[in-house]
Amino acid sequence: MNRKYRKTVIAGNWKMNKTPSETKEFMNQLKTIMPKGRWCDVALCVPAVCIPAAVRAMRDTRVGIGAENCNANASGAYTGEISTGMLVDAGCKYVIIGHSERRAMGETDADVNAKVLAALEAGLTPIMCCGESLEQREAGITDEWIAMQIKLGLAGVSEDKIRKVVIAYEPIWAIGTGRTATPEQAEEVCENIRAVVRKLYSSKNARAISILYGGSMNEKNAFELLAQPDIDGGLIGGASLVPEKFVQIIEAANQPTV
Ligand code: 13P
Repeated sequence: MNRKYRKTVIAGNWKMNKTPSETKEFMNQLKTIMPKGRWCDVALCVPAVCIPAAVRAMRDTRVGIGAENCNANASGAYTGEISTGMLVDAGCKYVIIGHSERRAMGETDADVNAKVLAALEAGLTPIMCCGESLEQREAGITDEWIAMQIKLGLAGVSEDKIRKVVIAYEPIWAIGTGRTATPEQAEEVCENIRAVVRKLYSSKNARAISILYGGSMNEKNAFELLAQPDIDGGLIGGASLVPEKFVQIIEAANQPTV
């Protein structure tokens, strides 16, 4: 983390877990144990049907609610899809874009790019995901792969909007496996992502953008990962489903790092 230049963000990704009633219960529990005073930005990205319950419960808090996906079109004949305008109207502040689980369902870099642009246009904070497979890591092409995902995902994002984008590095082999990247491995890639942003934009913008790590981050390993200079937060799956664990990760992000 580097709190001087950029925001620390702890974001949960619930994936396809919890019902609206369970959401209400979780949020009410979370409110009672949330650290008081100043803390990092906190987001919870929940299933679409849970957004109203989450927004209602967290209305008087600083926890931002987000979606896990969006459609890049403003409206129209896209059965089952949800536009960024609908998310904003429902009270969302964030939207996860290009998670590897969605890419595995066929989402392309061009789709990711269109969604990032639509999210920014609507005033949402896109949490744009990137990450390599185990085969790609073993083949030694992690840096090139990630650089390509970042370049394609950010195509057409203007100089004045880039700082609103949050990037999440999630190595596919670390997601839901309990096999976390080491702090050094995660730092190396996050540093590379910042270098790509520097080349595409400027040093100032690269210094200001928040880059998160995701992949089996939990209350035990969070502090060490967040102590790395280029890891500005976490995108947390499993551990974001349990209020106590999620709060411990927020507390780890609030600790002094030096
Ligand atoms: P886990 O924390 O469950 O490994 O999931 C990470 C993730 O995919 C967050 O988007």
